[in-house]
Amino acid sequence: MPALVLLGAQWGDEGKGKATDLLGGSVDYVVRYQGGNNAGHTVVVGDQKYALHLLPSGILSPGCTPVIGNGVVVDPAVLLSELSGLADRGVDTSKLLISGNAHLITPYHTTLDKVSERFLGKRKIGTTGRGIGPAYADKINRVGIRVQDLFDESILRQKVEAALDNKNQVLAKLYNRRAIAVDQVVEELLGYADPLSGYVADTTLLLNNAIDQGRVVLFEGGQGTLLDVDHGTYPFVTSSNPTAGGACTGTGVGPTKISRVIGILKAYTTRVGAGPFPTELLDEDGEKLRTIGGERGVTTGRDRRCGWFDAVIARYATRVNGLTDFFLTKLDVLTGWERIPVCVAYEIDGKRVEELPYSQTDFHHAKPIYETLPGWSEDITQAKSFDELPKNAQKYVQALEEMSGAPISAIGVGPGRDETIQINSFL
Ligand code: GDP
Ligand code: IMO
Ligand code: MG
Repeated sequence: MPALVLLGAQWGDEGKGKATDLLGGSVDYVVRYQGGNNAGHTVVVGDQKYALHLLPSGILSPGCTPVIGNGVVVDPAVLLSELSGLADRGVDTSKLLISGNAHLITPYHTTLDKVSERFLGKRKIGTTGRGIGPAYADKINRVGIRVQDLFDESILRQKVEAALDNKNQVLAKLYNRRAIAVDQVVEELLGYADPLSGYVADTTLLLNNAIDQGRVVLFEGGQGTLLDVDHGTYPFVTSSNPTAGGACTGTGVGPTKISRVIGILKAYTTRVGAGPFPTELLDEDGEKLRTIGGERGVTTGRDRRCGWFDAVIARYATRVNGLTDFFLTKLDVLTGWERIPVCVAYEIDGKRVEELPYSQTDFHHAKPIYETLPGWSEDITQAKSFDELPKNAQKYVQALEEMSGAPISAIGVGPGRDETIQINSFL
């Protein structure tokens, strides 16, 4: 039975929230498997706009159970405020389930994220400042605090002591900051135990049972392929695995159970934060994409860097995720350009390169080789089928599909649920 992964094929902000919400009505579970509230997923339902950070986008579909998997890092203060914000808008949040094995983001992680970025100076990553990197570092270092620890005060205290032993030295001696008191952290964390207790579950058991019983499960990625700590543009990446394998480790569902992997792909490219970006446009076209596409961060409000579509990246996403489909988003944003350049390969040190180079130095030197496709000027936001698109828009989509290595099964022509052209069903 279908278990689908839906993930970002570029540097995040491809429109994962919209795509997840679109499928939300037909799936039983929507599961976040990595990342945390560094994500900002926008969902537009009628005249209502929601910005979700930690909660799976399925929370807006009444029949769907939203799940926060073990691979996510959870800032409990953010979680509770997001839940109450949605409840105030009449959204039923009672079905949410949270893995007891998910790690917590505590105030010292957020502090460390911010001070370490400041310390890096011009070498900074441009993180979202939400404590993501430090929380994952503690997880890997085996000094993390998990959701289940909230329910055992003595274990919680021991773990906070162990974590702060080292961090207080770093904060005081390296960053010249005040030490953080164990009692203060323990007290704050204990305050989250009651409000969260009703949501905590053995989500691995539950999801495997659900799949065995023929329920449809959708894994919703945060960030994107090129932000993956293993497969992205390291060190300018996030600290988790948004790529397809992360859905398995981040939920405890084995790869044999996954039937489909859908890459969300913007019809052009954006990136937030520092790091290489071969097709970046620092000219009027870049500004135009930013304005028409509304390319401003949902989480940090930063302007997104904008550039033309990069087929080398799309092919790479197909490869490292084993993509079965693409969902092409924001095609409508390209309406009005007479000609649209698309990067088909890179030139690196005078040589043409078709695949993403594994060497960071090579990628930094990559210059885009463009093919230019004819544009269209007709409004496409009302198109309901591929045939209703102007011929040049059809050709643009077909060209991207040929270059990217997987079928384009849906096309976004606007932010709303119904502003989508479905070509192949995902279920
Ligand atoms: P996510 O992080 O991948 O969920 O993406 P974001 O929500 O950060 O950014 C995507 C933005 O594009 C949001 O404002 C969406 O409402 C919007 N969006 C999604 N799909 C489309 C589309 O097909 N056309 C247009 N014009 N906007 C879209
Ligand atoms: P969604 O899910 C775009 C970027 C940050 C920074 C890098 C590391 O909305 O697509 P972090 O705070 O994760 O340690 O920052 O990753 N980044 C994102 N960029 N979309 C996101 O999420 C992102 N989450 C993190 O800008 O460059
Ligand atoms: Mg986003």
